[in-house]
Amino acid sequence: MPSDVALPSELVDATGRPFRIRRLEAGDRPGLEAMYADFEPLRIAQGLPPATPETQRAWLDEVLAEGLHLAVTEGPELVGHGMLMPYGDAVELANFLHQRVRGRGIGTALNRALVDLARREGYDRVWLSVEPSNRAAIRSYEKAGFRFLPGSVWGPEIEMEVDLRADER
Ligand SMILES: CC(C)(COP(=O)(O)OP(=O)(O)OC[C@H]1O[C@@H](n2cnc3c(N)ncnc32)[C@H](O)[C@@H]1OP(=O)(O)O)[C@@H](O)C(=O)NCCC(=O)NCCS
Repeated sequence: MPSDVALPSELVDATGRPFRIRRLEAGDRPGLEAMYADFEPLRIAQGLPPATPETQRAWLDEVLAEGLHLAVTEGPELVGHGMLMPYGDAVELANFLHQRVRGRGIGTALNRALVDLARREGYDRVWLSVEPSNRAAIRSYEKAGFRFLPGSVWGPEIEMEVDLRADER
């Protein structure tokens, strides 16, 4: 049975601290730039986030012009960004949490919220590619229901997907 993460979503992480997942808003841009300016390690996922504040701003101009975007906040601070970018009949998922809040289950919750958002928006599939060395990301995707695409597990990039049409069968 598919879960349905209502947004905004008020949650508690594995250490008991509250956090919130909600739609990204226009006023979030300074918080988003501040998070990426302080992000480590840079270029961890297919060269993203870009390496300098200037190239990060250009990248944000590009990605924020399309797709669906979620923000993770802890108190007043923006600590995470998840996005769904159109990719054929699918959307491609990407997510970035500030290093201060990783490993507390927040990435898994963000993945689930992104999958539910894709379902509600009527997409058939959520797809992503991830470097095999990024074990935390792969584990967080598995926990959110992603399956490995056959043939990709021995490649330089692992491809994973959630087939949302399967929910209707
Ligand atoms: C990837 C990312 C979003 C995951 O979010 P997160 O909040 O750190 O992940 P979670 O806490 O929800 O889950 C991580 C899981 O991976 C596990 N994990 C962490 N490091 C691991 C490692 N080196 N090897 C295997 N598993 C690992 C954790 O134990 C946890 O699994 P468990 O709950 O079964 O114990 C976050 O770490 C991040 O933003 N990383 C940098 C950017 C990035 O790589 N984005 C992905 C682009 S493809």
